[in-house]
Amino acid sequence: MIALNVNGKRVEVDAEADTPLLWVLRDYLDMTGTKFGCGMALCGACTVHIDGQPTRSCVTPASAVAGKSITTIEAIGATRAGKAVQDAWVAENVPQCGYCQSGQVMSAAALLASKKNPGDADIDSAMSGNICRCATYPRIRAAIKRAARGLA
Ligand code: FES
Ligand code: FES
Repeated sequence: MIALNVNGKRVEVDAEADTPLLWVLRDYLDMTGTKFGCGMALCGACTVHIDGQPTRSCVTPASAVAGKSITTIEAIGATRAGKAVQDAWVAENVPQCGYCQSGQVMSAAALLASKKNPGDADIDSAMSGNICRCATYPRIRAAIKRAARGLA
C-alpha cells in the first residue's frame, strides 16, 4: 500500500512502489485529466504539482511522493493562480485538440504562483518542456500574460 495526498485528500493505493504516479492517478484513482503522451519526461502532458513544483508524473514513482502534496488538473482551479490560468485559457480560446492542455495549465499555474509578472523569456523557460502538436504556443503565451494581469 502506498499512502498519497492527492488534491488535499489522503488515499491509499495497492500499487507496486515503482508504479509511475501517472498510472496511479489514471488507473487506480480514475483521475484521467492528467494525460499520457510520451512516458519519458519529454512532452509535459502528464504534469502535476508536487509540493507546488511542476513534475512529470510519468517518470515519478508513486512511492517517491508519499507524504508530499500532489495537485492535479482536477483541483488546480481551487488555487488562485490556477483559477486565473483556467479563466485566461477560456478567454483566449487556447486549446485546439486539447490533449496537451492539462499539462500546459499545470506548468502555467506553477509559473504564476512563483512569478507574478513573467516576461516572454520567463514564459519560454517555464513552458519549454510542454509540447503542443497543435502549436497553440502564441495563445498559451497570451493567456499566461492575461492571467498575470488578472492576478495583479
Ligand atoms: S507523458 Fe510524461 S512527459 Fe510525456
Ligand atoms: S492543443 Fe493539441 S496538442 Fe496541444
